[in-house]
Amino acid sequence: MAIQRTFSIIKPDATKRNLTGAIIAKFEAAGLRVVAQKRIQLTLAQAQTFYGVHSERPFFGELCEFMISEPIVVQVLEGEDAISKNREVMGATNPAEAAEGTIRKEFALSIGENSVHGSDAPETAAEEIAFFFSGLELVG
Ligand code: CMP
Repeated sequence: MAIQRTFSIIKPDATKRNLTGAIIAKFEAAGLRVVAQKRIQLTLAQAQTFYGVHSERPFFGELCEFMISEPIVVQVLEGEDAISKNREVMGATNPAEAAEGTIRKEFALSIGENSVHGSDAPETAAEEIAFFFSGLELVG
């Protein structure tokens, strides 16, 4: 597998509990490198656009309100097979189903307040990186 880039969010429940460094340590231990990162506060419109694919789901309103409730940290992670490696380190969406040692098993509070987001495919990774980062912010 080649070197890939993926997009990651450290969500409000985690930034609020000062877990940014602990989560980054999990990524780094798994061989993922943070190649771009910033702490931002989303507007409601930005959250609704980013999660537009879920707009018909019953939890959409709750998801968007949660994502604007505190600052988030958006990141680009790079490494061998980064998209699937990141998803492995995050663990299942529902922390009750997440494997031991994963970020969501250790830190997530619920299926909604699940500490991290990661892209699910190369196409979404490219779209999500472009949504949050300009070319000038991306090194190499
Ligand atoms: P994420 O990987 O950011 O992608 C969509 C998010 O929707 C997901 O993580 C969860 O945080 C959230 N989500 C999924 N299912 C539910 C649910 N049943 N209730 C609330 N939020 C959910």
